[in-house]
Parts: sequence; structure tokens; C-alpha cells
Amino acid sequence: MDQVLEPQGPKGLPYVGSLWRFSASDRLDWLSGLTDEYGDVSKFRLLKEEFYLVNHPDYVRDVLTSKVKQYSKDAAGFKIIKKVIGESVFTTTGEVWKRKRTLAQPQFHKKKINNLSSIMITAIQEMLERWESNCRQKKPLDIKQEMMEITLGVVTKTLFSTGLKDDEFKTVVDVFTPILKETNNRLLYPFKFLRHFKSKVNQQYKRNIETLDRIIFGIIEKRRSGSEQFEDLLQMLINARDEGTGMPLTDVELRDEVMTIFIAGHETTANALSWLWIVLSEKPAIRAEVEREVTAVLGDRIPDVTDFPKLNYTLNVFKEVLRLYPPVPVIARRAEREDQLGPYSIKRNGTILFSPYLLHRHADFWERPEEFDPQRFEKNAQIKRHPFAYLPFGGGPRICIGINFALMEAVFIIAMVTQRFRLALPVGSNVKPAFEITYRPKGKVHIHLHKKAS
Ligand code: HEM
Repeated sequence: MDQVLEPQGPKGLPYVGSLWRFSASDRLDWLSGLTDEYGDVSKFRLLKEEFYLVNHPDYVRDVLTSKVKQYSKDAAGFKIIKKVIGESVFTTTGEVWKRKRTLAQPQFHKKKINNLSSIMITAIQEMLERWESNCRQKKPLDIKQEMMEITLGVVTKTLFSTGLKDDEFKTVVDVFTPILKETNNRLLYPFKFLRHFKSKVNQQYKRNIETLDRIIFGIIEKRRSGSEQFEDLLQMLINARDEGTGMPLTDVELRDEVMTIFIAGHETTANALSWLWIVLSEKPAIRAEVEREVTAVLGDRIPDVTDFPKLNYTLNVFKEVLRLYPPVPVIARRAEREDQLGPYSIKRNGTILFSPYLLHRHADFWERPEEFDPQRFEKNAQIKRHPFAYLPFGGGPRICIGINFALMEAVFIIAMVTQRFRLALPVGSNVKPAFEITYRPKGKVHIHLHKKAS
């Protein structure tokens, strides 16, 4: 019989285990230190729960594919996320998830996303008009805020096309940031009792979710009562039918999917794009190559869907940003039963953590891991790589449903901004990362806009 190894790791403190390390802002460095000290599978305790950090693509592949049924997505944080997005394709498991994924998947196929490209492009143009006036006033932008607004704008317009009035959009923008912030807090500091207090924060959180609900249910009702067909995601979801029963989604199911697309579909892309502008500002040779490609493919004209495959270098730059700055830096699963990953034993109910951030830097699978090199994503280089060494979108059946959406949106944003502007960090800027649930630049990041001569 093969040797069975018990994963090793820090003992931590009585009762809390390693909670104080895991809750600290440098938790990614701490996790990275665990892999250095204890190897590809290590173990630690948070309160009463056993956690395993798995940092080998072979074992991660097993968790996400052949053993997907025994490693469920029902990890502790899901109850918290469900308070906002309900029972959607993101939060459900088993047969319920399967039905929802089968219904939603076709709406995210390349062809359908291609149909949404003109809505995306119009939303990006609207943002750039606002940037023009900022540029005249020579005001630096907070790039994180701008990328959040543009990706929220894109996802809102692709969901509802013309269905959202200006004041409703403003309300969505206003309530979203606090909802995301408080959800992050609850995930990082999961002390249940705090949520039952009728504190100001808790009541505001509840009110913000109710505000979004009112807007979303309002739009669904208007759609259901009208006869006009729209070319947007909401319409596609309304028209979707269960393969087995022929039944459409109910209003509550629709609300949960819409809320999921809202949440899953903008902050991740916004964080990656914020990193992208920081990288381009610090690496003039890469920026020059992006500018060369954008000029060659588009010149001054507005892009359309046929341009997307031609902007290959730009896409590879974005993929390399997702490697070094993965918006989802850690993914969790729960072991439904006792198991073995490679030689390592895993206990029932243990939480498995794997980290795209660490896997993307694993020296056995990446040459010069810390170096920014978009050539890694040329076809020949990709073929040689372990498919589970690059996981910005997760993997297996629960891989991100929005990959095509996110990649197309990002490439159009990069290309259209590059046509008109050059972005530069002020001299001496030293942007640091913040790792909460997502991996993003810390604090406000001011960036100067330089208008290109037309
Ligand atoms: C750069 C942008 C994005 C990144 C890095 C990203 C990352 C991820 C990751 C890592 C997962 C898997 C989580 C897990 O296995 O536990 C996921 C799932 C998901 N993502 Fe994304 N995502 C992005 C954009 C989007 C967009 C634009 C949408 C929708 C418009 C979206 C919708 C979803 C949904 C619905 C799931 C759940 C799928 C399921 O469990 O079946 N994401 N995403």
C-alpha cells in the first residue's frame, strides 16, 4: 500500500488556532510561508475547524474534477453570500446547482456574448466621455473607483439594456460598494452573533439589499408585463427553459441569478483592470506593444465584435495580469468525507483551500514566476503547461460562467482607453496589494490621464 502522510502545519494557539494569522492583512504571505515550510499540502486550524492548504495542480485537479462530488462548495462562507445573492448558480450545490447551471450556461456561450458586445462598447464609450472632461480639468482619477463604475455600468447595461433609469443606476452604484464591503467583512470575521445585533451597520446592510431588490423586481415585473423582446441577459434568462420540465425561472430565481451576475460579474474584472493600468504604467515596453496592436487593429474607429480575436497581445497582457494579480486569490471546498490527495490524508468536514495566487507562482510549473511576461499565453507555451497551474477562473464543472464575458469586456476596455488616453501613476507611487476576499490594490490609487493627440 502507498505511504499515507498526515499533512503538517503550525499548531496555533489554544482554542483559536491560527485565526489571528489568517485574519491578518498579510494572510497571503503567511499562506505562502506554509507552502515553503510544509510543502504542497499543509494543515492549520481556525477555531474548531481543520483547514488544508493544497498547492499542487494535480491535487487541485482531483478536487475540482474527478472528486467534485466529494468536495462540495458548501463551505462556511456560503451562508453569508446567500444572504445577498440567494439560491443561485453560484451558491447552490448538487442537483439544484445542475439545473441552474444548465439554464444559465447557454446565455454565456461565445455567440451570445458576442451579441452583447455592442451594449458593452456603448457603456465603455459613455465612461470615456466623462474621462474627457476630467482630463480637461487635469484631475487625477481614482482608478479603482473608475474601474468599478465602468464594470458595474457594463454589467448593468448588458443585463437590462435600456431598462434602468439614470437615478436607478446611481442608486445601484451607491448601494453596491457598501454591500460588497459589508459582505467582505462578514466573510473575513465570521462571528455570527455580531450579525444579530440591530446595529446601524446591520440595518443599513439590510436596507441596501432591499433597495437593490426593489429595483430588480421592478424591472422583472415590467418585462413580464410588456410584449417587447430585448437583446440583453435578463431577456435571455427570462426566455430560458428547464430542459426536463420546460419550466422558466420564477421571479425569485431570476432575482437571485441577476444579483449573482451583478456581484460576481463586476468587482473581479474591476480589480484586474485596476492592476492592469498600474502594470502598464510601470512597464513602458509592454504598454508600447499594446498601443501598437490597438493602433494597427483599430486606428481611431470604434471596435466591434470582429476585432476581439485580433487584439491577441492585449488579451495576453490581461491574462498575465490575472496570473500575477488573480482577483479571486483563494478558493474553498469542504471535504464531505475522509479522503487522500496524493499521499496526504484529508479528514471529513475539513476545508480545502487552494490559491490561484500561489499556484500561479509555483516554481515547478512556471519559469521566472515573478516576471511579467504575456508571451506565456501564446498557444505553444500554453499547451506545455499543466492546465490546473493557471486557475484565475477556477476549474472543472464549477468554472466561472462569465469567462467569455470578462475577457471580451476587459479587452474592449483596454483597447478603447488606449485609443484615447495614456494612464500614468504619479512618480514615486508604491501601490501595495490588499487581500480580503478579492485581491486588489490597497487604498485609493490616483492615476493621471494624458489625452492622446487625435
Ligand atoms: C476577471 C473576472 C472574473 C474572475 C477572475 C472570476 C473568477 C471566478 C472564479 C474563480 C469562480 C469559481 C469559484 C469557485 O470555484 O469557488 C467563478 C465563478 C463564477 N463566476 Fe466568475 N469571475 C470573473 C468574472 C465573472 C463575470 C463577468 C461573471 C458574470 C457575468 C461571473 C459569474 C460567475 C458565476 C455565476 C460563477 C459561479 C459558477 C458556478 O458555480 O457554477 N464571473 N468566477
